[in-house]
Amino acid sequence: SRIAVLASGRGSNLQALLDAIATGALDAELVGVFSDRPDAAALRRVPEPLRWSRDARAFASREAFDAELAAALAQRRPHWVVCAGYMRILGPAFIDALRGRLLNIHPSLLPKYRGLRTHARALADGEREHGASVHFVSPELDAGAVVAQAAVPVRPGDDAETLAARVLAAEHPLLVATLRLAVAGRLAEGDGVALLDGQPV
Ligand code: GRF
Repeated sequence: SRIAVLASGRGSNLQALLDAIATGALDAELVGVFSDRPDAAALRRVPEPLRWSRDARAFASREAFDAELAAALAQRRPHWVVCAGYMRILGPAFIDALRGRLLNIHPSLLPKYRGLRTHARALADGEREHGASVHFVSPELDAGAVVAQAAVPVRPGDDAETLAARVLAAEHPLLVATLRLAVAGRLAEGDGVALLDGQPV
């Protein structure tokens, strides 16, 4: 199964997928890394021919950027497209064209803490548990059908950085496990719910 990754930053989730492919734990081919930031460290985790980036700020509109991204993606013919630390909002036309094949990993236990600064917000609320979610992307930000989640405890003395590190360590196996289900053909989106083996998750 062909997987493409969208990433804006460090790319540790991308690395987890690359490592799982290398060990054979994930039976897939990484066909490209796509970024809205040409300086994203994520790009340097793959060979040059697999990199695509454009500075999103140089585009007149979201739609114009999305259209170039979509065209570049289509050339690589991915079956699954994974947003892993991709920080740019995708427009509805882009999302609709990939509906059911577009996944995102988000650092919270959705539906809690959509959007940014999830760790600081969870701490400020006194949450005792936090975590990460993989969900199908829908046009409403971080609101698509949740496929899988991993919870971690919030510990006394945590700050946003220590909590983020604990969540990130849980993200990597969560993303790999989810992609294993995806490439095995066991995952689908139907009517706004995630289906595993045809049953609502
Ligand atoms: C992860 O916490 C991801 O959930 C969030 O941004 C972070 C990206 O980390 N959306 P990395 O680039 O995969 O290392």
